[in-house]
Amino acid sequence: MGETSIDLQPDRSKSSALKRLATVIELRCVECASLYPGISDQPRYRCDCGGVLDVETTIHYPLKQEPASQKEIETRKTSESDVNVFAGVHWRQLFKERASQSIAWSVNAHEHLPNSSGVWRYRELILPVPEKFIVSRPEGNTGLYPVGRENCGNHRSGHRRIGQYAELDYLYLKHEGENPTGSFKDRGMTVGVTMANLLGARAVACASTGNTSASLASYAAQLGLPGIVFLPATNVAAGKLAQSLAYGATTIQIEGDFDDAMRLVEQVCKDLGIYLLNSLNPFRIEGQKAIGFELLQQLEWKAPDWLVLPAGNLGNTSAIGKAFRQAHRLGLIARVPRIASIQASGANPFFRSYMSGFSHREHVQAQTIATAIKIGDPVSYSRARLVIEESNGIVEEVTDEEILAAKTVIDRSGIGCEPASAATLAGVRKLVKRGVIKREEQVVGILTGNLLKDSQTGIPQLKRGDVITASFEAVKKSLTNKLSF
Ligand code: F0G
Repeated sequence: MGETSIDLQPDRSKSSALKRLATVIELRCVECASLYPGISDQPRYRCDCGGVLDVETTIHYPLKQEPASQKEIETRKTSESDVNVFAGVHWRQLFKERASQSIAWSVNAHEHLPNSSGVWRYRELILPVPEKFIVSRPEGNTGLYPVGRENCGNHRSGHRRIGQYAELDYLYLKHEGENPTGSFKDRGMTVGVTMANLLGARAVACASTGNTSASLASYAAQLGLPGIVFLPATNVAAGKLAQSLAYGATTIQIEGDFDDAMRLVEQVCKDLGIYLLNSLNPFRIEGQKAIGFELLQQLEWKAPDWLVLPAGNLGNTSAIGKAFRQAHRLGLIARVPRIASIQASGANPFFRSYMSGFSHREHVQAQTIATAIKIGDPVSYSRARLVIEESNGIVEEVTDEEILAAKTVIDRSGIGCEPASAATLAGVRKLVKRGVIKREEQVVGILTGNLLKDSQTGIPQLKRGDVITASFEAVKKSLTNKLSF
């Protein structure tokens, strides 16, 4: 089938917003450094050499206090490489004001957009677009739980068990499962769907292990745009599949795994003129950077020693690493945290490449109970490699048994997460045991998805034989057995 134009239909107000945007963003190939326009008639996701692309933005600092109309805002060009301690003070002040104004729980939350979004609060560093085009739930504003042996605080002995398990004094878990659709994907999706809105796309699509599809389905439905999701026919957690179907996305199950679905969706989007919303789309990465900005703001811009996260397609490693690099260059933080990407040992191509000193890129046939990260050929390999090298980071692998054991600890603490997220704690524990992370170092771990996404894996299931008669005596006997009353 021949290549079809994407059938973009931006109206006049969108066209002028796009023109303005085109003056401040460009796309650079991560492999060969070729430069492309940030906005073009035909969306570009790859360089001619096949490499993935990275958004380069000329960042403007708004000089006047908000509120100010677009025209009233005088701007000063701040190059990212222009390390300026004073700039850091201004940015911190700006983000503090915006966070204090945000009323995310108000019925009128949309009136407080973009400040009530934990993504658009950092808009100059994400995507400078006029507010009226933003498609947001809003997202972000996720909890940062102190769970270390020392930083846990009183009356939280359940949470402290996580620190005891990791044998760490200063550990935080940032729970991205608290986003609107239950995973970190919403942060990239609000930006991706906002771009689809601006570009006048007629439909959006992605391949997914379940969370990206749930997020795409929700944001596409909000905008009133057809959403198409490609899922492996097996190994997608029931909660995630239910979300895509409930939000009304056209859900295509394919015989094959995520890597097959990914190859297919890239071809389908190109040939049928559909806007691609996998993290191959560099604007998704820009949105996910907000995890990094938000956690740094929660820590009052004191960078932790380590950031630990699960790694599959490697979009998130790339995004958080980029956020830390930008935050450092803009003077927001004094040093860049080391990043540890954790893979499941049955789905570990990035770990294998790392172990070879990144001398070559590995592929595997992925197999793990953590289905969200069951990926053998990660799209953002070169972006993530750069992050690991730049941050003096590390890639580690953990077994399915280690993931399930860590999940039980997180679940029993009352915080809870989906299996892939628990790779974070399993990885922290392993790196502490190996002496790579020192016991007194400050560590932030990312929990990427909500417990309810997967109600089966690693969760004790009740059996039919557990049902008792509805009598006080039967209850008393049961409790005596279970709790030794
Ligand atoms: N954790 C969860 C819960 C995920 O859903 C994913 C990725 C990851 C970690 C890994 O993040 O790919 O940026 O390295 N899920 C994608 C999806 C692949 O389709 O939902 P990554």
